[in-house]
Amino acid sequence: MHMEKGQVNIRINELRDIINDANRRYYVENSPILSDYEFDMLLKELEALERQYPEFITPDSPTQKVGSDRKREFEQYPHRYPMLSLGNTYDMTEVEAFADRAVKGIGNSFTFSCELKFDGTAICLTYRNGRLYRALTRGDGSVGDDVTANVRNISNIPQELTAPAGFEPSQQKPAPWPEEFEIRGEIYMPWAAFDRLNQEREKDDEQPFANPRNAASGSLKLIDSSMVTNRGLECTLYHILGEALPYQTHDEALKAAESWGLPVSDKRKICRTIDEIEDFITYWNTERKNLPFATDGIVIKVNELPYQEELGYTAKFPRWAVAYKFKAEQALTKLISIDYQVGRTGAVTPVANLEPVQLSGTVVKRASLHNEEQMRIHDIHIGDYVYVEKGGEIIPKITGVELSQRGPDVVLPHFPQTCPDCGTELIRDEEEAKAFCPNQGGCPTQIKGRLIHFLSRKAMNVIAGDATIEQLFNRALVWNVADFYELRKEHLLTLEGWKERSAERFLGSLEESKKTPFERVLYALGIRYVGEATAKGVAAHFGNIDAIASASMDDLLKVDDVGQVIAESIYEYFRDEANMEVISRLKGYGLRFEMDERPEKLSATLEGKTIVISGNFSIPRDEMKALIVAHGGKNSGSISKKTSYLLAGEKAGPEKLKKAEALDVPIISENEFMGMLAINVEDHVTEDNEPTLF
Ligand code: IVH
Repeated sequence: MHMEKGQVNIRINELRDIINDANRRYYVENSPILSDYEFDMLLKELEALERQYPEFITPDSPTQKVGSDRKREFEQYPHRYPMLSLGNTYDMTEVEAFADRAVKGIGNSFTFSCELKFDGTAICLTYRNGRLYRALTRGDGSVGDDVTANVRNISNIPQELTAPAGFEPSQQKPAPWPEEFEIRGEIYMPWAAFDRLNQEREKDDEQPFANPRNAASGSLKLIDSSMVTNRGLECTLYHILGEALPYQTHDEALKAAESWGLPVSDKRKICRTIDEIEDFITYWNTERKNLPFATDGIVIKVNELPYQEELGYTAKFPRWAVAYKFKAEQALTKLISIDYQVGRTGAVTPVANLEPVQLSGTVVKRASLHNEEQMRIHDIHIGDYVYVEKGGEIIPKITGVELSQRGPDVVLPHFPQTCPDCGTELIRDEEEAKAFCPNQGGCPTQIKGRLIHFLSRKAMNVIAGDATIEQLFNRALVWNVADFYELRKEHLLTLEGWKERSAERFLGSLEESKKTPFERVLYALGIRYVGEATAKGVAAHFGNIDAIASASMDDLLKVDDVGQVIAESIYEYFRDEANMEVISRLKGYGLRFEMDERPEKLSATLEGKTIVISGNFSIPRDEMKALIVAHGGKNSGSISKKTSYLLAGEKAGPEKLKKAEALDVPIISENEFMGMLAINVEDHVTEDNEPTLF
């Protein structure tokens, strides 16, 4: 296709905008708008145009850098070696071209290491003297986010390396691992953990993660490290870096890492020829469906490390490796009809009914159409042949229409204007492209949804099936969640199949639920967008329900992980009189609306002091923060004129140090800080006379 130069420039800018936006949605928001394939094709188009018209290349073009996942809540550190991505292709002939280029560069006495391409989020671990020292995300490739505290909660990442069997430590023999090295790999979420997480999120009306990769990177960036433990993340490591490492091949280095207890995949093979590489790819293209985790391709690396060095790097990729990517499996089938489902919070979602079709081992009958905008973008008609893909969601999604098979009798669907359940006019949320039924108090599906959510396991944990709740609602015995606590045995005995014992059990369970901790009660209320994690954060921040109810938007926005949308939702919830009345009744029944007593203060030494910490200390950073609070101080993430001290540990952030100096904020070391608390340390002596800080 021939384009005028002006048109080329317009297209280049357009591609850059789309790609930058897609990168942001992918890396920062963990909610991609393009499939990998679509993204890669746009990037390739941009690369081709820039190659043809190098005068249009700018240093900030997405072809010149990797997308950034940096989040402001984390400390950032530079990577010692840039963290690059891999050149990728969907085309076997390009793998051949890669192998040919390697032969041209280094002759033909080398081998390839073929490995699975794990579909997760990249991580860089540094081990010092056999201990995990730091974990950084890729970030923008040169600076990454420090997620060490979170990584310490991933079960298969050792905090300390273990010597291989038969190794006898002695004065003469050095440790079996280099004094310091980096090892890079992927943090991923196995399918089982991913399905569990998404089921919970869907139940809570939280946006499910689009795929395990987004779920992994979202989980790795949770502000509350303790929540990482339950996410079921795992790690696999595939690249060691360091100064003067004693290994000749990549394979040898990985075997060494494995012998120190680091997780390394055994699904690797040393290949000598392009045919062997192709066999490996073909084998895993099918066999990967039986793996308990997601893979999106095969990585082919030159195995000999001196040859890797000889081939070197481009600005973005190593020349010694390439990724062959698998295409997502698709099926083509007929769209029969569309249901519009109302969720607990009133969101109306279009769901397609399909002619049953086989896809990756299961029969698919229903698929998500996401929202009205997606239906319009894909120009979906009832009767169309549509492509379905399993992105990993619980129900598959429709990714496009096969226009060549469109018949004359297809019908354009109309997204309803009114709630399919209660008939109330729907409200459009343009930004989220979603439609909502505003009749929170009267729409039966929403009411039932809230009742079910309230009693659910992670909320009030009352043993009751959905059918029971439905019956209670249909018989007008409960209308809102406070009504549960008014139920008497005689009410329950009117329910189908209920006997004395089942009624007593249910009432007992309700009584027991009054002891549920505040954070779970807050979650049980079912405030839109307030999932378990948010409820925990908000409850801890404010301490009791009255403080939350009277919080301003600004106050709410100060809570970690609460953004504009969540803050607005909370703010509005407490401005609704009906909600306030339910809360007041629940208080009357004895439910808990404040946090347990805060941990006892150790001292008031730091009363009125705001302390920012940066760098590493002899104790984990979380403990350091807890210590500040336990002595009456406040911990803050950013330096301002109001900051009392910058507590700087090893490798404190240069930006923070600069800012502290500029604002005349005193910089103190860990020793000085401990010195300030010294009197208190003496007060806390354990039995064996070791001072302890807690
Ligand atoms: S090697 C210098 N090996 O895929 C590049 N990467 O799309 C070293 N990935 O950035 C990377 N599995 O995050 C390598 N076996 C594997 C991999 C792998 C997954 C990721 C990694 C990389 C991305 C490129």
